[in-house]
Amino acid sequence: MENAIAKQYNCRPVQPYVPYKWPLALDLLKQNYEILFSDHTFEKLTPYFDIAKTCCIHLFGVTGYFTTDPDNIETILSAKFDDYSLGSRRLATHPLLGEGIFSQDGPAWKRSRELIRQQFVRVHKETPRAFTSHVDSLLASISDASVGGLVDLKPLMFEYTLNTTTSLLFGEPHSSMSKEEGNAVRENFDHASFGCGIRVRLADAAFLYNPAKFRKSCKAVRDWATFFASKAMKYKDEHGEEAAAERYPFIIDLWKEMQEFDLVRDQLLHILVAGRDSTASLLCWTVFHLVRNPNILGRLQKEIDCVPREGDLSREQIQKLPFLRCCFNEILRLYPTLPMNIRFANKPTILPRGGGPDGTSPVLLSKGAGIVWSVYHLHRLEDIYGPDSRLFRPQRWESGELIKNARLGVGFVDFNGGPRVCLGKDYALMEASYALIRILQAHPNIRIAPGVANEPVGAEKQAYTIGLYPLEGVQVVLG
Ligand code: HEM
Repeated sequence: MENAIAKQYNCRPVQPYVPYKWPLALDLLKQNYEILFSDHTFEKLTPYFDIAKTCCIHLFGVTGYFTTDPDNIETILSAKFDDYSLGSRRLATHPLLGEGIFSQDGPAWKRSRELIRQQFVRVHKETPRAFTSHVDSLLASISDASVGGLVDLKPLMFEYTLNTTTSLLFGEPHSSMSKEEGNAVRENFDHASFGCGIRVRLADAAFLYNPAKFRKSCKAVRDWATFFASKAMKYKDEHGEEAAAERYPFIIDLWKEMQEFDLVRDQLLHILVAGRDSTASLLCWTVFHLVRNPNILGRLQKEIDCVPREGDLSREQIQKLPFLRCCFNEILRLYPTLPMNIRFANKPTILPRGGGPDGTSPVLLSKGAGIVWSVYHLHRLEDIYGPDSRLFRPQRWESGELIKNARLGVGFVDFNGGPRVCLGKDYALMEASYALIRILQAHPNIRIAPGVANEPVGAEKQAYTIGLYPLEGVQVVLG
């Protein structure tokens, strides 16, 4: 059957491959692990993605593929979506997340997606007003944390998104816990997410990474989610479903459909993981670059000048700030939340490009073949983003031409593309916009802290758990 498909579509094998020296290419595995624990993970992977836009890798005697070709990425995400599955993601993330949207395929995923999509229809009406109290707390914690005007915004951004997301899901913010408990949850979350990242890389051998500290962190996070979800269920038992749905709409709506406590709790954890690091990373990298580029910061401040400083911000006010959106596009281009992604062919299928001596022929993927695409490297391709693709230059988005040329969901996949496109996109953009506007209004003289390096894009230290964020913090002087 595979031969017939290959003949019908004129497929050719992918010729470029990642060179290796040791039997079964075990040296590549070793290199990959050294890179994972380095402070420049995605930069150090660049030589692999520079070999060719589509290239193969022979690991343990099995052939897999790497690509940054937008046409191939569109095929995986959209055109032939049904031909691919997440593979071992479920196994890798199960100790932390259990069953839920992020690791499901097929009918189970469709059902989860529809349930969660309905929640975001409701949430759309409540945002951005729902962020006001959290932004107020963020501003207060920035003032409290500043020592002589100097402050690291990174932990405060992560606290902000943890509070917004726990309020959204659990009906109350994480900050309702004691400081010690809150810190412990955050540490366990980071450790468990990092462990899941290692397990994802081990694919079917994920079970090999299961140390006691990882298990303990996963349990602590799950216990924490259980505590909040149980509170809602207790409230329902005491006050009835209607009253509980007013107070805990996310949990009760999921419960009505799923009728199983563990499934509801796991689904909440999936959304929490999707929503927390991603938006915090966007905020961190944005401030990181704004304070390093005073001209761009000045332009943004001028645009924001028209926004009232008091009261709730509205969706319309935020949408009237095109340069703010350009800044976010540029950050999501250079620092995508999911810098690398993988799918496995669940039947023989075709990639449109990458085969033959010039890499332009279709390629046959056998059932079970894995394909990794690097959003990080796709978003830095010169043929899409120009010779200055490695510079932070939000102005490149201004005319609207770039988004047309790059094609949303094809050459620019900030929030993914196709049927699995991010469900929290609007929520995240409102959340990040609201916080950034208020920070810039409250601190018009914000600038980079003295003695902090201002290195070119690509030289900065990056940390990676679920999101890609600056390793050394976002050190600023408030002014
Ligand atoms: C800047 C912020 C964000 C970025 C860049 C982002 C990006 C993404 C990406 C790339 C995916 C696809 C993952 C995959 O391949 O499976 C995704 C999925 C998802 N995101 Fe986001 N996300 C952000 C914020 C949020 C927030 C705040 C929420 C919810 C509160 C959220 C909820 C989800 C959900 C539920 C999915 C799973 C969709 C599915 O599998 O059908 N995201 N997001």
